[in-house]
Amino acid sequence: MNRRIISMIILAVLTLSALYGLSRSASPPIDPPDPSSSITLDEAIFHRTSQRSYLDEPVTAEEVSALLHAAGGGTADGTSGPTRAYPSAGGAYPLNIHLVAGNVTGIEPGVYTYQWRDHSLKKILAGDIRAPLMRASLDQRSVGSAPAAVIITADIDRTVSRYGERGRRYVLIDAGAAMQNVQLKAVDLGLGSVVIGAFDDQALQQVLGLDCFPLLVMPVGRTRSR
Ligand SMILES: Cc1cc2nc3c(=O)[nH]c(=O)nc-3n(C[C@H](O)[C@H](O)[C@H](O)COP(=O)(O)O)c2cc1C
Repeated sequence: MNRRIISMIILAVLTLSALYGLSRSASPPIDPPDPSSSITLDEAIFHRTSQRSYLDEPVTAEEVSALLHAAGGGTADGTSGPTRAYPSAGGAYPLNIHLVAGNVTGIEPGVYTYQWRDHSLKKILAGDIRAPLMRASLDQRSVGSAPAAVIITADIDRTVSRYGERGRRYVLIDAGAAMQNVQLKAVDLGLGSVVIGAFDDQALQQVLGLDCFPLLVMPVGRTRSR
């Protein structure tokens, strides 16, 4: 083999390993979800309230992992295949779950989409976007001060293509179930959360770099009360 071919092979190997490294850092692994709970379901329901003030402390990747799984992670095998943490009309599962990480130990600040099949994160944007996220959420301080936020968006056509206009109602019901899962899991983890429905749709889409229909922003963080 002449030297030119050898150097081309070395270059190709180096390029491939660099690309592999980039794609890995673009989709950081998160811990597998832990099905155990520190409190009973009854206790979680009893303690559920909206919490809008958070301590200036990080949440952990483990906590975020549990919250994302509660929002829309894979669960048991159902009649028509794998199911998720929330029930969905016709098994359409039209919701997309996203993470805004601002101050999360083990996860770089950025916007991520949760991939339920392998419980991983796909990076959408790098950097701390909490300030513009707060502006898009009509300047609500809870959004700007939380170390992380779970965001639920929907691909409404997935359900509407099956059920027509009635599908719009079903998507909102699906989102309510996912949202309640997140609030109860936050209680279980000793975190506070609130559901934010008041925001500028277009501004939010722009800030997140996403083309989906935004439904809910859920800031989460540690609170003084727990
Ligand atoms: C669909 C929906 C949208 C909401 N939007 C907001 C919001 O934009 N800002 C906010 O501070 N709370 C918001 N909330 C939280 C409610 O204000 C809160 O649930 C209500 O005051 C009852 O308090 P509790 O959750 O502690 O029982 C929303 C709740 C829901 C279910």
